[in-house]
Order: sequence, then C-alpha cells, then structure tokens
Amino acid sequence: MKLAFIGIGNVGFAIANQLQQKGHQICIASNDENSETVQLALQKNSAFSIQSIQEAIATSDIVFLATPFQANETILKELQFKGKILVDCTNPVGPDISHGLNSEISGSEKVQEWAPDAKVVKAFTIYGFENLIDSSYSNYTVKPVMMIAGNDLQSKEVISKINTDMGFETLDTGKLDQALHLEHMTLLWVKMVRRDGHHPNFVWAYLEK
Ligand SMILES: NC(=O)c1ccc[n+]([C@@H]2O[C@H](COP(=O)([O-])OP(=O)(O)OC[C@H]3O[C@@H](n4cnc5c(N)ncnc54)[C@H](OP(=O)(O)O)[C@@H]3O)[C@@H](O)[C@H]2O)c1
Repeated sequence: MKLAFIGIGNVGFAIANQLQQKGHQICIASNDENSETVQLALQKNSAFSIQSIQEAIATSDIVFLATPFQANETILKELQFKGKILVDCTNPVGPDISHGLNSEISGSEKVQEWAPDAKVVKAFTIYGFENLIDSSYSNYTVKPVMMIAGNDLQSKEVISKINTDMGFETLDTGKLDQALHLEHMTLLWVKMVRRDGHHPNFVWAYLEK
C-alpha cells in the first residue's frame, strides 16, 4: 500500500521505516523539503519519497498523522481527505504529563472535527516510539497489543492488517470516543517510563479466556 506520513520525527519515522521494510511504499507528506526531520528521514531510508501534503494525501491509501498535537488544527483545516483513512498517532499532552484537553474530549475526536471528511482511527499512541522502531518480542509466545479506536469498521480492519505487519496484535477498543482512554494509557506509559524510570521497551499484552 502507499502510505503518507504527515510528521516524520520519532514516531512517524519509526512506523514508516518498519512498514517500508514490510513492502509498503512510503511517502513523506511535507510542504517543507528543507525540514530537518524530513532530510534526516530521507537520509536514513532512501526508499522514502516526498510530496506536498495535499498531493501525498490524494495519491496514498492511508495517511498517518505524527505531528505535535498543537499543530494539528492548522495543518488539518487546510486539507481534503475525501474519505481517506487518517491514522491519528498524536497525543494532546498538557503540563506535568496531564491530558492536554483536560480529559473533556479526546485529541482524536478533535482531529476528526478538523478533518471531517477523513475516517480517523486512533493507533500507535499507547507506547513511546521505542516500541515502534522494532515491535518484535521473539522471546514471548504472545505479541504486544496495539489498541485502536475509530468509528469506521472497515478502516479499523485495514489498520489491523498494518498492525500485523508491525508485529502487533490488534485490540479494537470501540468507537473514536474510546481514544480518550487510550490517551490516558499513553500518560500512564509516559509517566512510568519518562518520569519514573521503567524500561521503554515494555509493552502491554491482551490475554483472553
Ligand atoms: N515520542 C513518543 O514516544 C510518542 C509516542 C506516541 C505518540 N507520540 C505523539 O506523536 C506525535 C509526534 O511525536 P514525535 O516524538 O514523533 O515528534 P517529533 O520527533 O518532534 O516529530 C514531529 C514531526 O512533525 C512535524 N511537524 C511539526 N510541526 C508541523 C507543522 N506545523 N506542519 C507539518 N509538520 C509539522 C515535524 O517536522 P519539522 O521537523 O519540520 O518540524 C516532525 O517531522 C506527538 O503528537 C506525540 O505526542 C509520541
């Protein structure tokens, strides 16, 4: 599939790089070829291409949003998605690792509001980027879980296949309003790892009887 990445920093590059190695075609969606992260990504993986953001969206199957949350409204309001899947990898983080929207609404629902013609799926946010660089845990018989949320079932099935390519088991947590709770899981992970010193390569698993 052709995958477009708006934002190719820690998170965008880690996901794009893994998926390129699994045979997907990666396009950096950027209006600034001279951006440091864009240049670094192109140096690190010469199979990536670059297009303007709107052009990349129009010619890709899936669009990943991996930008600072506070930039999202300005970025998204300019764009047309025409029903494309928009994977929201962003998290609204406030002071002292709090929820940046005071837990009143999820960042993903705001993303959906700013991109009303996109099918938004929340994914790839419950861990730090370290677990997106290499998601294989070969010493275990269970795979790490990737929890997703979104209103469109078909889009979630598509992202589920992307998760499989990344080495994750998918857990569909429900509609997009569940993203609020996924964002709190992020805060839990971030406080444990970035503040309290837990290992960044720990992951969650889903076990069911
Ligand atoms: N870091 C983590 O462990 C982690 C894990 C899960 C989710 N997240 C979430 O993922 C998102 C990205 O985090 P990150 O750590 O990957 O950040 P990052 O390394 O700083 O990368 C951000 C990317 O967004 C681009 N960008 C910034 N402002 C932009 C704008 N106005 N228009 C277009 N592109 C813009 C940057 O391009 P330039 O270089 O040109 O500025 C860069 O490519 C955040 O919302 C974060 O909360 C982070």
